[in-house]
Amino acid sequence: MPTSDLGLDQTLAALGITDAAQVTARFAEVRRHFDGQFQTVHDEADWRLFRDRWLGRKSGVLTLVTDNWLKPATPELKRDVGVSLNALRAHVESQIEVRRLAIESGAEESTLARERVDLSLPGVIRPIGSRHLIRQVFQEIEDIFVSIGFSIVEGPEIETPYYNFEARNIPEFHPVRDDMDTFYLELPKSAKTPLLLRTHTSPMQIRTMEKQKPPVRVIVPGKVYRRDNPDATHSFMFHQVEGLAVDTDITFCDFTGTIEYFVKQFFGPSVKTRFRPSYFPFTEPSVEFDVSCPFCGGTGTAAGGGTCSKCKGAAWIELFGAGMVDPAVYGFVNYDAKKVSGFAFGIGIDRMAMLKYGIDDIQVFFQNDVRFLRQFP
Ligand code: DAH
Repeated sequence: MPTSDLGLDQTLAALGITDAAQVTARFAEVRRHFDGQFQTVHDEADWRLFRDRWLGRKSGVLTLVTDNWLKPATPELKRDVGVSLNALRAHVESQIEVRRLAIESGAEESTLARERVDLSLPGVIRPIGSRHLIRQVFQEIEDIFVSIGFSIVEGPEIETPYYNFEARNIPEFHPVRDDMDTFYLELPKSAKTPLLLRTHTSPMQIRTMEKQKPPVRVIVPGKVYRRDNPDATHSFMFHQVEGLAVDTDITFCDFTGTIEYFVKQFFGPSVKTRFRPSYFPFTEPSVEFDVSCPFCGGTGTAAGGGTCSKCKGAAWIELFGAGMVDPAVYGFVNYDAKKVSGFAFGIGIDRMAMLKYGIDDIQVFFQNDVRFLRQFP
C-alpha cells in the first residue's frame, strides 16, 4: 500500500475517525505500513530515502501526522492521538537506528571479507633471472684456469692504438690491421691520441706486464669489437678470454700441456687436441688449436650415418689461436727477452659456447629471446 493511501493529507475528522478505538486502529495500520516498507531497506541508499520519507522535517510521514491528524484533532481525541503518535515515533526512530547500525556493520563485514588475507594462497612468484649462456661459459673457463694458478684481470674496452696494436708488435702499416677493421672514436682535434674500441683482449697483456714483474699468469675475460657484418658466425661485438703466462722457465711443453688440460676440462676427457702452425705478430711460433669434433667423436661421420654437419666431415674443429710470446713483445714492457719466456692464447667465448652447446647462430646470444635463454637456466 502506498503511503498516500494512509490519508495523511486529511484530518481525522475528514477520514471519519471519531473515537479512540478508531484512532488506535488507524495508527496500527500506519505502523504495519512502516514495518512492511522497513523489510525492503538493505543498503545505505535505501536507508536514507526511507529515513527521509518517515522522519523528513517538511513532509515526512510523522510530520504529516502531526500537522494533519494531531493538531486539528478534536479536544476529546487529542490525547489519544498524541499518545499513539509518540508510540509510533518511538517505534519508527528506534527501528531506523537499528537498521542503520545493521547496514553499517554489514558493509564493514563485507569489506573485511573482501580484504581477508588468505595465508594458504600461494605467494607471488617473482622469477629470478638466470645468467646468460655467455656469462656461464666465461665462468666455466675462468674456473678451469683459476684452478691451475691463473688470476683474472680485466681492462678497458676503449683503448689506444698503442696498446691495441703497436705494443702488440703490430706497427702502423702492418697488414694484420686490415683484419681488424676497427671502430675509432670521434674525438676533438686536440685529443692527444686516437681512441678505439679494443679489437681483442690482448692489450691487457701489455698493461699487465707493465705493472708486474714475472712470473705472470693471468686470464682476461671481456668484450671486443670489430667492424664485422653480422651473420651466423660474426658480430660487431663478441667475447674473448685472453691468457698469458710468462716466467723464467716456461717451455713449449708447458704451453701445450696447459691448453690440452683446459680443452679436456671444458669439452670432456675424450676429446683430442692438435695444433697447426699459424701466424700472429705477437707470438712466435704461433699456432691454431683444434679439438677433435665433440659432436661426432672425431670420426667425421654423424651418429645416424652421413657426414657430421658440425665439422663437415673434417673430424677436427678449429678452436682458437695461441703461441709462445714473441720476444719483441717483451721489449715494450721492459722484460728481459733473454731471461723470460711464455705463452699466450686468445679464446673466442661465443665460438666455444656455440661448439659446446650446439648453437649454430651467434646472433641468438644477442637477441635476448627468452625462449633461447631459458634453455640454459
Ligand atoms: N688476439 C687474437 C685475435 O683476437 C687472438 C690471439 C691469438 C690472442 C694468439 C693471443 C694469441 O694471445 O697468442 O684474433
